[in-house]
Parts: sequence; structure tokens; C-alpha cells
Amino acid sequence: MTSYRLMMLGAPGAGKGTQAKRLAEELSIPHVSTGDMLREAKRKGTEMGKKAAEYMNAGDLVPDEVVIGIVKDRLAEEDAAGGFVLDGFPRTIPQAEALEKMGLELDRVIEVAVTDEEVVSRLSGRMSCPSCGAVYHQEASPPKEENVCDQCGHEGLIVREDDQPEAIKQRLESYHRQTAPLIDFYRDRGVLASVEGVGSMDDVTASILEKVKA
Ligand code: AP5
Repeated sequence: MTSYRLMMLGAPGAGKGTQAKRLAEELSIPHVSTGDMLREAKRKGTEMGKKAAEYMNAGDLVPDEVVIGIVKDRLAEEDAAGGFVLDGFPRTIPQAEALEKMGLELDRVIEVAVTDEEVVSRLSGRMSCPSCGAVYHQEASPPKEENVCDQCGHEGLIVREDDQPEAIKQRLESYHRQTAPLIDFYRDRGVLASVEGVGSMDDVTASILEKVKA
């Protein structure tokens, strides 16, 4: 495969962000995460960010038109011309159709499969750096020094607002109802590849790269 228009598909906490960052580095393409973009808008307190926060904190999806607009602008930037790895988009059939209307058909969609039990355990132990966005897990990948980011040295890691038990439950429900239908959507287009999202992060990366380069 010469072009790398990729997308990570999976439940909340499946490891999409962790793996998308690694893939972006390995293939020298931008990592485009709608979750990160929405959290940035929320942090800056923009009108869109404030509205999105209401949906995100409750574990619901932000309306399609908002997310489609953000992604369209981002993918029009120069660094995305040679490919990209989408993380968290598309998340509904209308979003997938909108991406196709932009003329951006995906070369490979990687489904990262994990059980709902694994999701709950991962999200309950996740911590992230409010300064650079690095993600840790209390047991699977703790920072070298407690509460200090390995990457930028920021002191004080945080727990995402939507990693509370009620919101996790709601996010899983949204995933099964609104996002999982994309598995068949992309299988029908012949671009779906599935990997097991359990095991070491390095093993998961190796399985994904194998599928991407196949
Ligand atoms: P988003 O930020 O996309 O959240 P998500 O899909 O719920 O996914 P997460 O970021 O929680 O998990 P992940 O799969 O990236 O896992 P991670 O690598 O962090 O979206 C947040 C919200 O924004 C949505 O709920 C919605 O409201 C809104 N939104 C975003 N996009 C939207 C869209 N397109 N349309 C509408 N609304 C949208 O890993 C999780 C944890 O597990 C970490 O602690 C990590 O260290 C650990 N871990 C990773 N891999 C492993 C492994 N192999 N073994 C053990 N632990 C592991």
C-alpha cells in the first residue's frame, strides 16, 4: 500500500489513541483525533467547546455536523495531503458518508477489538497529562515518577471527566449502537482489518503494522 489514509475503529479505551500515535510516528503521517480536538476546544472555552463538553461529559456523541466540520478543516491542511491516521472519526454512518463526500476514501480501517470488561478496567486506571496529552495507565503503563509526565515533565496527571463510571457506561452504549455498525460498512468496502487489542502495546502495534503494510 503506498497511500496511508487510515482509521482506528474501536470501543472507548480499546487503545485507539495509544496505537494511532505510534502509527503516525512510524509512518510519518499526522494523527487526527477528534477527541483531542474537542478537548482542546473545551479547554480554550470556545463556544463550540462549551457545547461539545455537555455531550462529552455525559458520554454522548457530539452532533455529526460539528465533528464533520472540524475534520473537514483539519484534513484540508497541507500535512494531511500524503495520508493521516484518524482516531475517533468517523463514529457514525453519516460521518463515514461525509468523509467519502470529501473525496477521502480510506485505505485501511483497523478495528481494535477488546471486551467491555477490559474497557472498564482500562478507563478506570487511565491518567493523562493536561499539558502534552500523553496517556498513562496506573498498572499497564505508569509514568516513571509518580504523577509526573515522562514526556514533558509536567507535575499533576489528571483523570478525564468522561472516565467516571456512569459516563463509561454511556460511552460503551453509544459505541455499540452508533459506531459498531461501521464495522460492516467498511467490511463491505473491502478495507477492514481486525486486530486483538489485548496483549502488550508493542505486540498490538506490530499486528496493526502488519495489516497496514499488507
Ligand atoms: P475520544 O477521545 O475519541 O474517546 P474514546 O473513543 O472514548 O476513546 P478513548 O480516548 O477513551 O480511548 P482509546 O481507544 O483512545 O484508548 P487509549 O489509547 O487512551 O472521544 C471522547 C468523546 O469526544 C466522545 O465520547 C464523544 O463525546 C466525543 N467525540 C469524539 N469524536 C467524536 C465523533 N467522531 N463524533 C461524535 N463525538 C465525538 O487507551 C485507554 C487506556 O488503556 C490508557 O490508559 C492506555 O494506557 C491503556 N492501554 C492502551 N493499550 C493497552 C494495552 N494493550 N494493554 C493495557 N492497557 C492499554
